[in-house]
Amino acid sequence: MNHELVLVIDFGGQYNQLIARRVREHKIYCEVKSYKTPIEEIREMNPKGIIFTGGPNSVYLDDSPRMSKEIFELGVPILGICYGAQFLVYGLGGTIGKANENSAAEFGRTECEFDTNSPLLKGLKEKSVVWMSHNDYIETLPKGFKAIGHSDKCPYGAIENVEKKFYGTQFHPEVNHTEQGFEMLGNFLYNVCGCRGDWTMEEYAQTAINDIRAKVGDGKALLALSGGVDSSVACKLLAKAIGNQLTCIFVDHGLMRKNEGDEVEAAFADSGVNFVRVNAGERFLGKLKGVTEPERKRKIIGEEFIRVFEEEAKKIGKVDYLVQGTIYPDVIESGTGDAAVIKSHHNVGGLPDYVDFKEIIEPLRLLFKDEVRALGTTLGLDEKLVWRQPFPGPGLAIRIIGEVTPEKVATLQDADAIFREEIANAGLDRSINQYFAVLTNMRSVGVMGDGRTYDYTLALRGVSTSDFMTADFSRIPYDVLEKVSVRIVNEVKNINRVVYDITSKPPATIEWE
Ligand code: XMP
Repeated sequence: MNHELVLVIDFGGQYNQLIARRVREHKIYCEVKSYKTPIEEIREMNPKGIIFTGGPNSVYLDDSPRMSKEIFELGVPILGICYGAQFLVYGLGGTIGKANENSAAEFGRTECEFDTNSPLLKGLKEKSVVWMSHNDYIETLPKGFKAIGHSDKCPYGAIENVEKKFYGTQFHPEVNHTEQGFEMLGNFLYNVCGCRGDWTMEEYAQTAINDIRAKVGDGKALLALSGGVDSSVACKLLAKAIGNQLTCIFVDHGLMRKNEGDEVEAAFADSGVNFVRVNAGERFLGKLKGVTEPERKRKIIGEEFIRVFEEEAKKIGKVDYLVQGTIYPDVIESGTGDAAVIKSHHNVGGLPDYVDFKEIIEPLRLLFKDEVRALGTTLGLDEKLVWRQPFPGPGLAIRIIGEVTPEKVATLQDADAIFREEIANAGLDRSINQYFAVLTNMRSVGVMGDGRTYDYTLALRGVSTSDFMTADFSRIPYDVLEKVSVRIVNEVKNINRVVYDITSKPPATIEWE
């Protein structure tokens, strides 16, 4: 690819992905690389700029992350953030102090004053709030540097060496709490590094299509389509690139939301690829008969999924490429930093072992989720699929507490559809990050008309979250909840009570199970 490139050098901070996302939001392509990346490799990548991330350590510790000082001799502009700024200062001969000795530690919102003559701070307000989070602080500057920002406690809140194009901020410009942070990053990228901003999804799509064509030639590719955003966008991209050389297998396990299987089929059946829908609902429900334990359900569905996929793949014979919807956060999590992250959720573990193929294609491996969505829109993917909420691989089986039966699946599909429809009617469908219905295993007495009922309780869940690791329950207005509840009890059989889940994660999880 011939894009302008900015490198984010990962020193183990918690906001590394966020920095990369912010750079991409400025329409500049960037990659996150470990601080252990050899200088030669960095030179070859020819970056327009380098950003050092924060990190948990003190630069003076023996095992703190360090790079070779040759990084300062590449002639490439550098912005150091927090630990990254301290590393820049330390590496160039300045000194770092320990805050607990003279109380210069700062955490949280802090007011800073700026010298707006600096290229980093041009056009900004002279005073604004920044997000600080540091124990150590910059004590003396290396030669050629000066302060361009300070707070009450921190004389070197932001620093520069104009000539070398080196900048540092003791605070975090990448987080939203830093009022002018986005603009500061923009100034670094455009004013200091001289970027033009050539990273757009139209461009990406065209380049990716060309690359895929060049790689696949007249070979055959296979994709497991789940109807989720990632596999749907990958399918659309491959369809444009290689058309009927691609076969998509969509295993419909009968545990999708109402009409979802048909929507997936409608979106792809005529897209020029070989589209195979396997209606395996009865098969999956048969396997789940009598099973109540959630982990067991997951295992059964996972295994059956692979079996069905494998059977279909065998019919196609040998394929050259297996397409996977891996996205950039998975790539970063599995290996730029020091800490190993273990993913707790996966939909179809182990697929590659079961299919005869030569190589893997991962056409989204450089994209963040919001970019995958933007690419989907660029490629003309149905909005419903572009904005699809996260949905567990085992589907409604885990949102039905206790045994899964065809009747219960239908009940839950109907109730969930009403909930989703009313949330959309209230205009809340983009602001609540995930919302769904759960069929509990509890029955209780109710009264309908003149009669007694003894039916199930349905639970509604709605959460706001940015990362799905923590979440807050959504404050859905009572009148919306009321409408949903009235409609569900009236329109869906076997439900006589509706409750709303008001726990956050932690201590609860988002899904029930
Ligand atoms: P929990 O319930 O652990 O869920 O708070 C966090 C997020 O993960 C989704 N989830 C899954 N996603 N495959 C997935 O791709 C799965 O098996 C799976 N199980 C849970 C869940 O919907 C929530 O967004």
